[in-house]
Amino acid sequence: MISYILVILCYFTVANSFVCTDPEIVTRDEWGAKPPTDVENLTLPVPYVVIHHSYIPAACSTKEECINDMQWMQKYHQQNNSWCDIGYNFAVGGDNRIYVGRGWTAVGAHAPRYNSRSIGIVLIGDWTDILPPESQMLAAKQLINMGIRDGYISENYKLIGHRQVRETACPGEALYKEIQMWPHWIPNPDEEVIPVVPLDKEDLKPDPREDPDASLASEDNEIKRHSSTDKDESTSRSIKHT
Ligand SMILES: *[C@@H]1O[C@H](CO)[C@@H](O)[C@H](O)[C@H]1NC(C)=O
Ligand SMILES: *[C@@H]1O[C@H](CO)[C@@H](O)[C@H](O)[C@H]1NC(C)=O
Ligand SMILES: [Zn+2]
Repeated sequence: MISYILVILCYFTVANSFVCTDPEIVTRDEWGAKPPTDVENLTLPVPYVVIHHSYIPAACSTKEECINDMQWMQKYHQQNNSWCDIGYNFAVGGDNRIYVGRGWTAVGAHAPRYNSRSIGIVLIGDWTDILPPESQMLAAKQLINMGIRDGYISENYKLIGHRQVRETACPGEALYKEIQMWPHWIPNPDEEVIPVVPLDKEDLKPDPREDPDASLASEDNEIKRHSSTDKDESTSRSIKHT
């Protein structure tokens, strides 16, 4: 009887990992998202998945905390960065839930030149020195597998970290080492980019939230969790192949 149930619930994914149920999805309505001010549609399926950390806010471990982080990041991206919406397509919380950002079909603002060809996934937390919990990373991998299964992510997609396409510490040293062992990671995405990809209208400068160098250093954790500074960095060094 038990094995019969397993057969129903579990399947081998394209990535050859054994996945049973989909992670719990928290919709925009559930986390109280503000409407996007504009939406641009992705061409599906996308060939890239880009992995991020949030750096700020720090890891969340309950739905309430993660919802708070989603609202804060959306507010930051809309008000301080003047973006249409929260930059990421999805966020994975330390509660192992998936929080819908721009979702599967909208172009994000998270990785210049890749926004219109990728799904951007942030694992909420600062993964410079430590890894996210296994369960949070599993939820991220399950999300990718859902995307492949449902036709949003190409079966032969390429996985990269944010720092591979712009000068940033994101997704943090520890997580960046880790994702190099995930299925489909590639070392040199720029070699594969068509040189004439137009610039994105959003995301022309690094998101100061994600970066220790660009963020407001503060001894106070409460402030560190909820404040950072917008540093006007030149875009030229991050756009190498225009
Ligand atoms: C984007 O897709 C939605 C449905 O998925 C559609 O209603 C809308 O017209 C599309 N927008 C553009 C600009 O193509
Ligand atoms: C973000 O924008 C709000 C409202 O425009 C402003 O009050 C706040 O100081 C900004 N925060 C940062 C860190 O720049
Ligand atoms: Zn990033």
